[in-house]
Amino acid sequence: MDATALAANFENKLAKNENIEPKDWMPDNYRKHLIRQISQHAHSEVVGMLPEGNWITRAPSLRRKMVLLAKVQDEGGHGLYLYSAAETLGISREELLHQLLSGKAKYSSIFNYPTLSWADMGAIGWLVDGAAIMNQVMLQRTSYGPYARAMVRICKEESFHQRQGYEIMSVLAAGSPEQKAMAQDALNRFWWPTLMMFGPSDANSANSENAIKWKIKRESNDQLRQRFVNQTIPQAELIGLTIPDAQLKWNEAKQGYDFGEPDWEEFNQVIHGNGPCNKERLGARLKAHDDGKWVREAAAAYASKRKLVAA
Ligand code: 3HC
Repeated sequence: MDATALAANFENKLAKNENIEPKDWMPDNYRKHLIRQISQHAHSEVVGMLPEGNWITRAPSLRRKMVLLAKVQDEGGHGLYLYSAAETLGISREELLHQLLSGKAKYSSIFNYPTLSWADMGAIGWLVDGAAIMNQVMLQRTSYGPYARAMVRICKEESFHQRQGYEIMSVLAAGSPEQKAMAQDALNRFWWPTLMMFGPSDANSANSENAIKWKIKRESNDQLRQRFVNQTIPQAELIGLTIPDAQLKWNEAKQGYDFGEPDWEEFNQVIHGNGPCNKERLGARLKAHDDGKWVREAAAAYASKRKLVAA
C-alpha cells in the first residue's frame, strides 16, 4: 500500500471505532502522542506507590495494612502493564525509565504532595483513585489496542482502591472529633490537587485537540473534572465532610455544580519539578534503580548462561 492508502486505512479504522494495533501503520505523531501519554501514565502508577508506601508500616491495624499493601502492589502492576503497552510502540523500557529518572518525563502532579496523616490514605483512595477512574473508564475505549486492553483490568482494580479509601474516610468521619478533624484536614489538602489531576482547562490543553481527533481521549479535561465534582459532592455530604470550596453551588440549568478555579500557578510549578515533594519522589526512584542494579546484572548474566547451554 502507498502512503495515501495507509493513511486512509488508519482514518477508516478510527471512523469505525476499530482498534489500531502495534503492527498497523500509524502517523508518527499518533505514535509519539501515545508514547508520551502511556509512559506518563506508567510513571504515575510507579511514583504513586511512594506516598502510600510511606504508611504501610504505620497502618492502624493488620487488616488496614493488608489492604494497603495489596493496593500499592496493584499500582506497581499497573505500571508494568502500561510500560509493556508503551513498548509495543517501539520504545525500550530502558529509554522510558531513563526519561523518568532524568526528569524529562512527567508523571501525575498529585504524587508530589506529602502524606501527613493516616487519613491521607483515605483521601488518596477516595479522591485520587476516584479521579483516576473517572479519567480511565474512557481509556478502555481508547483507539490503541494494547492501551485499551490494559485499562480494563486497571479500572477494575482502581475501583477497589476508591472504595477502600472511601471506607477509611467514612470510618474516620464517624469516629472521635479528632478523627473527624483528621479526615477533614486530609480532604482540605487533597481536594484542589485532585482537581488538577485532570490537567489544564480545555482552553489551555495543548494535546487535547489531537487526542480527541485520534480517539485517544474520548472526553475533555474539563468534562471529566466536572463529572468528578458532581459525583464526589454527595459522597462528602453523606459522611459529613465539607468540600473546601466557597464557590461550590448546584447549578440547576447545567445539572451540575459550579466550582472554584484550581490554582494553576501551583499546578505549573508542580509539573515543572517545583512541588513540595518532587525531589524526594525522584530521589526515591533513583535510589530504587541503583539498588536494583545487581538484580538486573544477575538476570542478564543468567539469561546469557542459559543461552550458552541451549546452543
Ligand atoms: N500532572 C502532570 N502533568 C500533567 C497533568 C498532571 N495532572 N495534567 C497535564 N499534564 C501535562 C501534560 O502531560 C502536558 O505536558 P506534555 O505535553 O509535556 O506531556 C501538559 O501538562 C498539558 O496538558 P494537556 O491537557 O495538553 O495533556 P494531556 O492531553 O496529555 O492530558 C492527562 C493530561 C489528562 C493527564 C492525560 O495525559 C491522560 O489522560 N493521561 C492518562 C491517565 C494518567 O496519566 N493518569 C495519571 C493519574 S494517576 C494514576 O493513574 C495512578 C492511580 O493509581 C491513581
